[in-house]
Amino acid sequence: LFATLAITSAAMLGLTACGGGNGDAGAGSTKVLKVAFNQNASHPQAVAITELSDKLKEATDGAYELELFPDEQLGSQAETLELVQSGAVDMAIVAGPLMEAFNPDFSVLNLPYVYDSPEHQMSVLNEPDITGELFDSLEDSESISVIGAYHGGVRNVYTTGGPVEKPADLAGQKIRIISSDTNVAMIQMMGGVGTPMPQGDVYTAIQSGVLNGAENNELIFADLAHAEIAPHYSYTQHLMIPDYLVANPMVLEAFSEEERETLDSLFAESVDSELASFDEKVAEAKTKAEEAGATFHEADVEAFRKAVEPLHKDKVNNDVTKAIFEKIDAAR
Ligand code: GCU
Repeated sequence: LFATLAITSAAMLGLTACGGGNGDAGAGSTKVLKVAFNQNASHPQAVAITELSDKLKEATDGAYELELFPDEQLGSQAETLELVQSGAVDMAIVAGPLMEAFNPDFSVLNLPYVYDSPEHQMSVLNEPDITGELFDSLEDSESISVIGAYHGGVRNVYTTGGPVEKPADLAGQKIRIISSDTNVAMIQMMGGVGTPMPQGDVYTAIQSGVLNGAENNELIFADLAHAEIAPHYSYTQHLMIPDYLVANPMVLEAFSEEERETLDSLFAESVDSELASFDEKVAEAKTKAEEAGATFHEADVEAFRKAVEPLHKDKVNNDVTKAIFEKIDAAR
């Protein structure tokens, strides 16, 4: 369903087929780059993109600006990734696990309990010496340029039936995950059954009983009203995934060297401001979820951490992932 919807809305918006909404003619016109986003316009990443757009427009004398399409208007993240690859959409924000389909080595950045804190996570993700080659690996083969990563919250489990305090509490429970082999294995080790699904389908799947719950940060839990139907939110703290701002390579090739440097340095600023604003949004989301009837519970984090330990060995399995893993460790 979403595939058709995405194509239709892309067509209706008049998105061009080769990287860049250049529907404008003449010197001095602004190139409007379309950015697909699956969450709402008040999400820290949406605010960051809007600020980035304003600064980019000013710094490039009006040559470039970004236009955000929030709320899955252009499709699920997996679908918008395809639209970026084909050039129908210029940019998208997509969750890290989805990148594993193109290069499994991305898994090392999506492992449970691999980061000590959001600050630790963000000190490694956009460090060219750590992630540069991995990011570049998708450019030629997959037509995906990774501009960089935003913090995407700390993920915890929430369910319809009751609190999840220890791995045994997840027995037989179907938990929605973002599609990736790492996530499937992770939920299995945590005691449950991982069910990959696009975010837009999760509410209905929980409501109809296809899922017993999901795992996500407090923003999704509150903003997509999951708090109303799976109200037991348990602080397993198992995962911090990156969200990547990706672009079609041809879009970026059209930038002059100076414009590209400007984009990169403004992006770095937006990464910092996004991280700085995340906690406040989480606090607001918790209040909203509580008002909707949700309860927040502590979980036995050490038990879950031990349960997923084998996954690190499974996924850190070649020179590339080992080198990155060591640098993540060294940055603790
Ligand atoms: C987080 C993440 C999103 C992702 C979502 C999901 O909110 O920031 O990029 O799409 O989780 O679980 O689908």
